[in-house]
Amino acid sequence: MPAAARAVRAFVAAHGREPTLLVRSPARVNLIGEHTDYNDGLCLPVAIDRELCIALRRTDDVAAGADPAAGAHLRLVSEQDPTPAVIELPPPPADTPPSARATGWTRYVQGVAVQLAASGQLAASGQPAGADLVPWQGALASDIPLGAGLSSSAALELAVAVACTHLAGSVPAPTELARLAQRAENAWVGAATGLLDQLACVGGIAGHALRIDCRTLTVTPVPLPAGLAVVVIDTGSRRELVTSAYADRRAECERAARALGVPALRDLDALPADAASRLDPVALRRARFVIAENARVDAVAEALTRGDAEAAGRLLLAGHRGIRDDFEVSGPELDAAVAAAYAAPGCFGARMTGGGFAGCAVALVDRARLEAFTETFEPAYFARTGREAVLHVCSAVAGTS
Ligand code: ADP
Ligand code: GAL
Repeated sequence: MPAAARAVRAFVAAHGREPTLLVRSPARVNLIGEHTDYNDGLCLPVAIDRELCIALRRTDDVAAGADPAAGAHLRLVSEQDPTPAVIELPPPPADTPPSARATGWTRYVQGVAVQLAASGQLAASGQPAGADLVPWQGALASDIPLGAGLSSSAALELAVAVACTHLAGSVPAPTELARLAQRAENAWVGAATGLLDQLACVGGIAGHALRIDCRTLTVTPVPLPAGLAVVVIDTGSRRELVTSAYADRRAECERAARALGVPALRDLDALPADAASRLDPVALRRARFVIAENARVDAVAEALTRGDAEAAGRLLLAGHRGIRDDFEVSGPELDAAVAAAYAAPGCFGARMTGGGFAGCAVALVDRARLEAFTETFEPAYFARTGREAVLHVCSAVAGTS
């Protein structure tokens, strides 16, 4: 049963009446442009047809005592977690110390409510609208694997943000919603991520990848050739300690930019001739990757636009080598998935996708040869790793709505 229908069913089961609003929010897969977002660079994600859906209804029309789950709060249940997320209204102030914040998945919902309330204060001084928070109850169902690098957390943040702002009667522009969700993740949850995930989820366009310039926040649609399948390969691997490695990479990139005298690595088209004497070996490798990766985004966008899947595939493979050898955030299962995918019939190229170390790879595959690809890939990946991969043949879909 699709996530939307499961969300509605769960809502009716919990509250004995129909929801009035359904919010859907897609996962994203990044085709190329990894670890470039926080370097003010370029990326090329696709919002995909794996969705998180919330069926909901405002509760300020429920008579006191009529439904024990109604009240001055947001209350959300999820198939994936036995503990409901309950956010008292008004939400706590944005400077609440981390020890007094919600934990688990509730912190993502709370973080969005906190940032919305904070942006409502900004509205008074002429900033973009936040919203007065209306109490609601909702049920969530999702087909996005958790922690696999497909941005289930961004999908959740944006679904909650759209639910709240829709009920308040003013949904901000997509870029504003993305920044709000990012603030929830950075300042409340405490993950220092860039804007790739949120912009991709909210900005999705059916049939297109999105070339995102993370400095100007300009989003340019790039048509995906009809005969090309975007295949997400969930390698089944998950890693702890990814957050600290991510922070290390950010710091290394910032160190490289400082040493090279630019505001961000985005500002370089090539490494200067004396880079090796100005950078330590680690910073040199990180900078080399980011500079090449930004160029690959435009090259892949151009290849897709002219329908050249082979050129796009070659660039994905080059991106994987760079992220493995220079940026050093691949992992054994990701390397095995890329190798097995590229050796399978119909594959133009593949690479790891997302933050790295574990989770998902993405492959570009000839749609006409999908069956042969799958039949060859699955046993080959199992032979290399002893794990079963899960393949998702994806369509590019519209963003959160
Ligand atoms: P990713 O965004 O790559 O999937 P993260 O670790 O950033 O991985 O976010 C995953 C977290 O998001 C989960 O641990 C959970 O707290 C929250 N989350 C996402 N989807 C759901 C869901 N359907 N139900 C409950 N929590 C969810
Ligand atoms: C994700 C992070 C994004 C981006 C990506 C790597 O985990 O949320 O902001 O940096 O890693 O491209």
